[in-house]
Amino acid sequence: MHLRHATSQIPAYAPAGNECALFETAWTRQLPLLLKGPTGCGKTRFVGHMAAKLGLPLATVSCHDDLAAADLTGRYLLKGGDTVWVDGPLTRAVRDGGVCYLDEVVEARKDVAVVLHPLTDDRRILPLERTGEQLEAPSSFMLVVSYNPGYQSLLKTLKPSTRQRFVAIEFDFLPKAREIEVVAEESGLDAARVEPLVELARRLRALKGHDLEEGVSTRLLVYCASLIDAGLDPRDAVRSAMIEPLTDEAGCAHRPSRTDAAVIR
Ligand SMILES: Nc1ncnc2c1ncn2[C@@H]1O[C@H](COP(=O)(O)OP(=O)(O)OP(=O)(O)O)[C@@H](O)[C@H]1O
Ligand SMILES: [Mg+2]
Repeated sequence: MHLRHATSQIPAYAPAGNECALFETAWTRQLPLLLKGPTGCGKTRFVGHMAAKLGLPLATVSCHDDLAAADLTGRYLLKGGDTVWVDGPLTRAVRDGGVCYLDEVVEARKDVAVVLHPLTDDRRILPLERTGEQLEAPSSFMLVVSYNPGYQSLLKTLKPSTRQRFVAIEFDFLPKAREIEVVAEESGLDAARVEPLVELARRLRALKGHDLEEGVSTRLLVYCASLIDAGLDPRDAVRSAMIEPLTDEAGCAHRPSRTDAAVIR
């Protein structure tokens, strides 16, 4: 990570609009938040930034198709012959009054909705079936979930009864000038040398949905600029960080070509 972040308590985040005020207001009003948007556009960074800014502990869980409710709430474990209850990250966040961030929440198993529902309506309770406890979330607790609507199959979407429990923010890539600033700041590469990379990324993003499942993310731009800043040939950096990660189809009609890479000098 770039040096500036190592010395700063709050992860740097460049807002695209009013999302910081929205997050803070949702937190004040005890409303859960849903973030949607493409991969690598700043959702995780945003949550880290806001939790630090509000002075709240943050528990992040990357959901996967095997993630069950007990992985979030907790379970009894054997410890030296005894069975002891160990809180999961969601229970911990409720007890501590922090932020629990469930990344790619649509991936999780169906029983996860059962624990999220009473926590995300006006009851704000977390029933722990196994211990018989019913935790009331303190006012500072906040649940944030995110997902990428792009690559979900029809079977994997949030049910309306889940979705309609959240205030939602749609994320997209930053406007050009802002993105140049962010990539320069994150990678250490001059803004003037970042500009053509961002321009290329914007052109590749225009192919999304035609030949490419996802466009070049800000994350990949940061990788690419970091490689160049470290002295790698810009053409190699573009190929490895902005082209190869997008697709495996060598013969893809609109596959970014050498000409695209040649934009970067
Ligand atoms: N608005 C922003 N301000 C600062 N940095 C940003 C911003 N957007 C993107 N970045 C940079 O892009 C990287 C990727 O962002 P992040 O990990 O937050 O993406 P994400 O939306 O959570 O992606 P995924 O859906 O794949 O988890 C960050 O580590 C950061 O370097
Ligand atoms: Mg993320």
